[in-house]
Parts: sequence; C-alpha cells; structure tokens
Amino acid sequence: MTAVCRLVLLAGVLLLPGCVREHIQSVVHPVGPQAAEIAWLWWFMFIVLTVVFVIVLLLFWIAIVRRPAAAASPPALGNRFIVISGIVLPSILLVTLLIFSANSSVVLRRPAEGISVRVQGHLWWWEVYYPEHDIHTANEIHIPVGRPVLLELTSADVIHSFWVPNLSGKIDMVPGQKNPFWIQADKPGVYRGQCAEYCGLQHALMAFVVVALAPEEFEEWLADKQKTPAQPATAELQRGREIYFAASCDNCHAIRGISEARVGPDLTHIGSRLSLGAGILRNNRGNLAGWIANPQPLKPGNRMPPSYLRSDELMALVTYLESLK
Ligand code: CUA
Repeated sequence: MTAVCRLVLLAGVLLLPGCVREHIQSVVHPVGPQAAEIAWLWWFMFIVLTVVFVIVLLLFWIAIVRRPAAAASPPALGNRFIVISGIVLPSILLVTLLIFSANSSVVLRRPAEGISVRVQGHLWWWEVYYPEHDIHTANEIHIPVGRPVLLELTSADVIHSFWVPNLSGKIDMVPGQKNPFWIQADKPGVYRGQCAEYCGLQHALMAFVVVALAPEEFEEWLADKQKTPAQPATAELQRGREIYFAASCDNCHAIRGISEARVGPDLTHIGSRLSLGAGILRNNRGNLAGWIANPQPLKPGNRMPPSYLRSDELMALVTYLESLK
C-alpha cells in the first residue's frame, strides 16, 4: 500500500463518524449545557495539544536533519533553549489547561433545582423511578427540554457507569451509594446511553435512551404514566393477565395495581417502550413473544428464565402486555 493510499484510508476512518446522520450517541454533538462544556474543553485541549505535537515533531525533524558531526563543537542552542522550551513553556501550558479544566468543574456543578429521577443499574438493565410522581419504568428516561434533571444514581449489584454522551460525562453507579448527577437536554430528541464500566457478560448490551420532550408533552407523559392500567376489556386480555400470574411473571415484575416484585423491569407501560432487553430489540409483537419464550439466546446470562408456554398462552400474554401502554 502506498503512503498516499494509507493517508486516504486514515482520513476516511477519521471522517467516518461525521457521516452518521443522526448523532444520538456522540460526545462532539452536545445537546445540553453539561455536554457542551465538556465538548468545548475537549476541543480546546485537542487543538492546543495538536499544535504542541506538531511543533515537537518539527523540532525532532530539524534535529535529525541538522545533526552535528561526531567531532563537531557543542550545539549552537544552549541551556536557555532547554529551560524555556522544556520547563517554562510546558509549565505555562499545563497550568493554563488546569485552570480551564477547573473552571469546567465549576460550570458542571449540580444546579439547585430540577426534576428528580432515581436510576439504579442492574445486570444488565436500568431501573428508573420518578419519586415526585411515583412512576416506575425501565431503560428509558423521559425528561423535559430545557430543565435540569437531578439524577440519583446507584446500583443493585456491581459497579455500572451512567453515560449519555450527548448530554453528560460519565459517572459510576456504586452499590450502597447514591451518586448525585445532573443532565439537561436543550433539544427534543432520543439520545442513547450506554453502561461505561465493564460489568459482566452483557455489559456492551446494557443500553438505554433519554427521551427529551417539549415541556407540555412531558407533562402529558407524567399524567399518562401515573395512571393505573385499566381492567382487561376482552376475554383475550383477561386470559393474558391470568397467564401473567400462572407463568409466575409476577414473582419478578411489577405492574401498577397488579404485582409488586422488582427483580426485573417494571411492566406497567411495557407496551409503550421503544425497546426490549435494555436496547437490544425493537419493541414489537414478534420480539416480545420471542423474548418471553426464551430470552437467553437473545441476551445470554440475563436473569430471565425461559417460559415454556403453549403458543396460544404466549400470544394471550403478549396481547395483554402490549395493551399496557
Ligand atoms: Cu453495566 Cu457495564
């Protein structure tokens, strides 16, 4: 491969992220003040350090080209050059970067007011709770645009890490500890988050989304999700609910007004979720049936066992769960 080909290839690889049309998981496309501050600091450091890198390479190249003969007199550049470029300039530069990064820490300080959301990491999904409205959900965090959201992060088992690149930096979720954190989205949209701390077999498939809604849509969402699911209106839905208990789904899952276990995700609004299995499958009838029948091949090692239902039972259960919007 010629040098030109290599350069073209390298440029292609570097530019590739720029070709993705929707930047729903990107640190260089900030959508909130916290991410914007981090992105700004990142670009600042990247540019300054690139300049330093190029100057050092240039000096290195000059040193090679103009190397003195073995027996020649001592180099023309004396101690002063070494003191200035080796001690004074790097010190000024590092202190400047330190000041800018300390300033960013001040900007990133948690605001006093905002809507509270508790998020707990599990192997390998995210439990989400709105204490002011008593809403339980999973793997999706709905937030209003333009308002800080105060998160209380913890873990039920091992250390996970909460990271929505478009909205914030990372923060660990530690068992037995509540870590305060905040995010804010200034543009409506769906932003993807990802566990950023290796936590076992399905770490890479421990995803979630933050859905940023316009304030009035968010108020509607809150009102909607506070409702208790209606009684089954048809025989099929009634049968589905009976199978929910017969198949022991209630041992691990909660549905508001129906069952209360919190081993697995809350299912009160499962029919309106965007994904299944913490972001691995689109939420539709086929995927939901497949997941319930046997989730292990889809997400090996997760805590949900296969269900061994007859197909008519499985379909009734899926119909019931899909009705829970
Ligand atoms: Cu949870 Cu990695």
